[in-house]
Amino acid sequence: MDRKIIIAIDGHSSTGKSTVARQLAKELGYIYVDTGAMYRAVTLYAMRHKFIDESEIDKKALEQSLHLINIRFEVSSETGLAEVMLNDENVEKEIRTLEVSRQVSPIAAISMVRRKLVEQQQLMGKDRGIVMDGRDIGTVVFPNAELKLFMTATAKDRAERRYNELLERGENVSYEDVLKNVVNRDHIDSTRKDSPLRKADDAITIDNSNLTLVEQFDQIHTIAKDAIAQKNLLS
Ligand code: DC
Repeated sequence: MDRKIIIAIDGHSSTGKSTVARQLAKELGYIYVDTGAMYRAVTLYAMRHKFIDESEIDKKALEQSLHLINIRFEVSSETGLAEVMLNDENVEKEIRTLEVSRQVSPIAAISMVRRKLVEQQQLMGKDRGIVMDGRDIGTVVFPNAELKLFMTATAKDRAERRYNELLERGENVSYEDVLKNVVNRDHIDSTRKDSPLRKADDAITIDNSNLTLVEQFDQIHTIAKDAIAQKNLLS
């Protein structure tokens, strides 16, 4: 029987990590986990409970409520995709707004939040056969992942993609605001004390600024098949 591996995909925001990770998981018959969605769901909870006021976070109140926050994924019968559930409510749409994007990085910098979510993520991967994307998957969540990818692209390219996505979803945003958000999140994610975004030493960098989605997927699929073959050869 084919031995399964863990595929960790990290990188900057809006590099198309989730699109490629989801596609790859489907192709390999693996589970896909979008860890950004988990941090976004905690952020939405904090916003709804007024723990965030004009970007000021009541960290203590959030930490004390963490045990009341239950996050899981459920496959939607409509889309066939795993969607995020916050205390049994499907919040897949609410977590993708620019408002949540604006608040999520400082929430994701809180160590107690990270500890809770990382523990849950490690459990999800205990049987391997998983593609997980985020910022610290190859460095903290699964330092022993058999395959680590680090995705990047210029801030301008990423902001353009994100802007078009938000417009398609009917959000009224300006390109300048989206670009600001991308740059700002990069800064907070890479400079925070706990688990900053960085490329693991053994990760393969994929710069997709000049790649089409198909080219990118083909490249990554080939790398993944090689890694799986390697695992089976060695075991
Ligand atoms: O991938 P995304 O844009 O949905 O992620 C939302 C935020 O969550 C992002 O600003 C960084 C943070 N994040 C993190 O700190 N660690 C992860 N494993 C995933 C996301």
